[in-house]
Amino acid sequence: MGQERLSWFGRLMQRLHPEGIPAGAAKVYNALSGTSIFLRHYDLVAEDVVKFCSAGRLLDIGTGPGRLLIPMYRQAPQLELTGVDISEAMVVEAAKNIAAAGMSDGIRVRQAGAKQLPFEDNYFDIVISSASLHHWKEPKECMAEIRRVLKPGGAALLYDLVKNMPKEILAEGRRKYGGYRMFLLWLHSFEEPFYNPESMVSLADPKLFETIHTRWVGLLCCLTLRKPIVV
Ligand SMILES: C[S@@+](CC[C@H](N)C(=O)[O-])C[C@H]1O[C@@H](n2cnc3c(N)ncnc32)[C@H](O)[C@@H]1O
Repeated sequence: MGQERLSWFGRLMQRLHPEGIPAGAAKVYNALSGTSIFLRHYDLVAEDVVKFCSAGRLLDIGTGPGRLLIPMYRQAPQLELTGVDISEAMVVEAAKNIAAAGMSDGIRVRQAGAKQLPFEDNYFDIVISSASLHHWKEPKECMAEIRRVLKPGGAALLYDLVKNMPKEILAEGRRKYGGYRMFLLWLHSFEEPFYNPESMVSLADPKLFETIHTRWVGLLCCLTLRKPIVV
């Protein structure tokens, strides 16, 4: 059980952390997300997503300021892109960023939580999420909801920072971003209720998904799921 496998500190932090980012913090996060380390991360994730799906319908859960959807649109213009976030303030930031990039016609954003997605069954070809999973209060219910909106055979790619990053990944991070930025990242995240790759895997019910494994994409661990073709 993924929830139980968080440390006591992780469980406490998950309880204390607000699920949706409130208005003031949304502005701060929006500013941070425009810095080079974040923008490089969004490009890397978009490249990874396109390997799984480059046409059809994509949903980004916990889209925050919507900055991942922008390189997604550039890299896969045939994807119909939708972002949702539980925080209304974040949806406002996302709409502004998408308008500034001139992509309002191609990207929709709306307020919704991962546990209750306002879409019909079997609607999306791919569901993605970046740095949001650790905020979800009821991750198992959210996984079931992701499966519901995915088409049979569709993939879910849930990228997040985790605890216990392998030494090689940390060394790669220091090489790419420098020790100072890695320290800032740690400062930003030491109190976050992060999973580790094993507890991430245990969030997904093997009865619901035929593929469940984790992979590294830059500094993020990606929980990779596939809904069976025959359901
Ligand atoms: C750290 S931000 C990441 C934003 C963006 N995906 C990124 O990579 O920059 C986490 C986002 O997840 C949203 N969030 C948290 N819990 C959520 C939930 N249950 N459903 C939808 N969004 C959620 C928060 O409001 C916040 O905008």
